Amino acid sequence: MTTFSDRVERISISGIREVFEAAGDDAINLGLGQPDFPTPEHAGRAAIDAIEAGDTDGYTGNKGTEALREAIAEKHARDQGVDVPPGDVIATAGGSEALHLAMEAHVDAGQEVLIPDPGFVAYDALTKLAGGEPVPVPLREDLTIDPAAIEERITDDTAAFVVNSPGNPTGTVSSEADVREFARIAREHDVLCVSDEVYEHFVFDGEHRSPIEYERDNVVVVNAASKTYSMTGWRLGWVTGASDRIERMLRVHQYVQACASAPAQYAAEAALSGPQGVVDEMRAAYERRRDLVVDGLADAGLDCPTPQGAFYAMPRVPEGLVDECIERGVVVVPGEAFGEHGAGHARISYATGEDDLEEALEIMAEAAEAVR
Ligand SMILES: Cc1ncc(COP(=O)(O)O)c(C=O)c1O
Repeated sequence: MTTFSDRVERISISGIREVFEAAGDDAINLGLGQPDFPTPEHAGRAAIDAIEAGDTDGYTGNKGTEALREAIAEKHARDQGVDVPPGDVIATAGGSEALHLAMEAHVDAGQEVLIPDPGFVAYDALTKLAGGEPVPVPLREDLTIDPAAIEERITDDTAAFVVNSPGNPTGTVSSEADVREFARIAREHDVLCVSDEVYEHFVFDGEHRSPIEYERDNVVVVNAASKTYSMTGWRLGWVTGASDRIERMLRVHQYVQACASAPAQYAAEAALSGPQGVVDEMRAAYERRRDLVVDGLADAGLDCPTPQGAFYAMPRVPEGLVDECIERGVVVVPGEAFGEHGAGHARISYATGEDDLEEALEIMAEAAEAVR
């Protein structure tokens, strides 16, 4: 008889895939959470050069190459103004593996992890895989993460809480005051704050702040080349944290991954230490699209907190709108795919060209008219 672990039986394939499969080939897909820009030339070139030189034939160190971790440390100095030793960084297979390491190293069976709801789908699943219990934390009315809602859910069983700014699926950005609160809560309650910052460079209004600026011991930062440099296919991320936390996460990483892909490490190093103008261009394009989406949703009579970052918008939608959109050839993801409090919303990804976006918004407006 085939038996499966209780842990794996508690999770399922993400609802997002099912939505794609339901849509026809000609559909405009506003469901994908991946950038539509090419990887910067110089990043790809660095990987090719490393392959041609034979530098990528073997394992790298478990934590990743020294040069990549120095580039990540340099990034922390540049963007957060914090001094991180390269030894406190592990290069991972995308932000996804970094999140997995954080959970595996810190969550015991039955312990609770507070996760934003609606929130990125992996937080719930990775908590369960670690044997923990996800505790959904509802967002504020404006879809930002509420530090008070986190603090009031902390118990003796809390192992960690997850924050994500700019947020998936909401596109909202936490204020400096809120981020300082995340850091204070981690410190005062002595619980781990996992800060997922994969969209940090796509902020249109305000500024990205990280709790690592205000608290070092109880914060681990998850990040990746995936979104910033349009490198989702390369599978390269990293986790930064205090030395003892890194050492525990390394134990897991060593056995599940050995090391991140060597060619991807060379590419990410070049992306991080090369010219950052490409990132500015992508941010400008996302901001133009954000404006298009906000206007289009307003014209369709759909209420949406203005997204300030990432490449998502999360309007409130009337019953039946998601299905009606899919029927009419526009794929959006139902809010409940991101947690029970996502119900009544839909996620729109605007990592897609402006012409498609304009057409999709017109179709959404017609669909909204039809279901009202
Ligand atoms: C909030 C968030 N964190 C982490 C990830 C994982 O990124 P990666 O592709 O680097 O594994 C994603 C991907 O969609 C995401 O949206």
